[in-house]
Amino acid sequence: MAKANLNYLKLPGSYLFSRIAQKVSEFAESHPDKKIIRLGIGDVTQPLTPVVIDALHNAVDEMAEKATFKGYAPDLGYEFLRKSISDWDYKRRGCLIEPDEIFISDGAKSDCGNIQEIFSTDNVIAVCDPVYPVYVDSNVMAGRTGDYDESKDGYNGVIYMPCTAENGFAPELPEKVPDLIYLCFPNNPTGEVMKKDRLQEWVDYANRNGSIILYDSAYEAFISEEDVPHSIYECDGARDCAIEFRSFSKTAGFTGLRLGYTVIPKNLKADGVELWPLWARRHGTKYNGAPYIVQRAGEAVYTEEGQKQVKDQIAYYMKNAKYIYDGLKDAGYEVSGGVNAPYIWLRTPDNMTSWEFFDYLLTKANVVGTPGSGFGPHGEHYFRLTAFGTLEDTIEAINRIRNI
Ligand code: MLT
Repeated sequence: MAKANLNYLKLPGSYLFSRIAQKVSEFAESHPDKKIIRLGIGDVTQPLTPVVIDALHNAVDEMAEKATFKGYAPDLGYEFLRKSISDWDYKRRGCLIEPDEIFISDGAKSDCGNIQEIFSTDNVIAVCDPVYPVYVDSNVMAGRTGDYDESKDGYNGVIYMPCTAENGFAPELPEKVPDLIYLCFPNNPTGEVMKKDRLQEWVDYANRNGSIILYDSAYEAFISEEDVPHSIYECDGARDCAIEFRSFSKTAGFTGLRLGYTVIPKNLKADGVELWPLWARRHGTKYNGAPYIVQRAGEAVYTEEGQKQVKDQIAYYMKNAKYIYDGLKDAGYEVSGGVNAPYIWLRTPDNMTSWEFFDYLLTKANVVGTPGSGFGPHGEHYFRLTAFGTLEDTIEAINRIRNI
C-alpha cells in the first residue's frame, strides 16, 4: 500500500505567508470598502529596470529566430551569466569564486529548501530563532527533525539559536555543535547584520568542528554600512565550510521573473566527500534551468548602467525603510533593522502577542505585516514590516499606524 510522507504532518497546516494571505483575503471580502496596504510578504512593487526590460525583449526576439533560438539551458546555467556573477559579485570584491562554482536557479527559496537533500538525514541542523521558515520546514519534510514540541515551540532535534535585542539579533556560537548551520545576513526577518569579525568567528567555528554553513545572502544589496560582509567568502577559510545562496528577487526586482544562484566551492567537503558533484548531480537530474530570456535579463544587471539602475531601485526601497523606522520610533515603538536590510523589526506595544498585533493593525489601520512568532518562538511579541511597498502606501501606512 502506498504510504504518504508523514513528516509533512509535523508541519503547521500552511506556510506562514499563505496563512497571512488567507486571513487578509477574508478581511478584504468582509470589508470591501477598506483600502488594505500590504507590508507583509517581502514582494517588490517597482517595475523591472529599463536595462532588464531591453534584455528581455532582445532575448524574446532571439527565441523567434531559428538561428538564435535556445532549447534546454546548460545544467549549471549559461556561461555568460555565471561569468558576470563571478566577476561582479565576487572577484571585484576580492572573493575568488569561479564561474563553474556557480549554479543558476529559479531563486534562493528553492535552493535553500533543496540543499538539505545532499546531506545525510542524520545531520543536526542549527537555525536562528526567529528564522525564515523555509530552512526548518524543508528539513522537517526530509525527516531530519523530531516531532514538534509544543512546550518549547519548536522541533525536537533542531538547535535553535536565539536572536534577541540583547545579542543584537545575531546568534551566539552554539555549545552543542551542529552539522549544518543556516545563517541569513542581512537577516530575514530582523533586518539586522553580522559584522565581518563576528562572521569570521562562525567560519572558524565551522572549520574547527567540520560543520557546513548554509549562508543566505539574498539581501546583501541592501547593505549600507562599512564592515558588513556582502558574502561569506570575504571571510578567511569560508571556501572550506560554506555554501552561499543569492537571489535576483530583491536585488533587481525579479520576484515574478525568478532567478537566483548557489555557490559551492569545488574544494568544499563534508566528512571527506566533495559537495559540488552532489549538487551538480541533483541539479542535472531534477532541474532544467532558469529560462534563457531570464538569464539574459540577469546578465543585464551586471553592466555599469544595470548596476546604477538597480541601485536606484534599492535606494527607493531603503527610503521607505527609513520612513518606517523613523516614523515608528518617533511614535514610541522599539524598532530595529531597516538600515542594511529592507525589513523593520518592531516590538509589539502593550505586550500584545504578534498575532494579536497583526489583527489589531489589520482591523484598525488596514495595514498588513508579518507576525514575528511566525518566524519562531523568539519572534513572539515582535512584528515585521517590509520596505518593498510603494512610497505613497508606505507613508500612508505609517501615518495610519501612528494615528490609531
Ligand atoms: C519574505 O517575505 O520573507 C520573503 O519574501 C519570502 C521569500 O523571499 O521567499
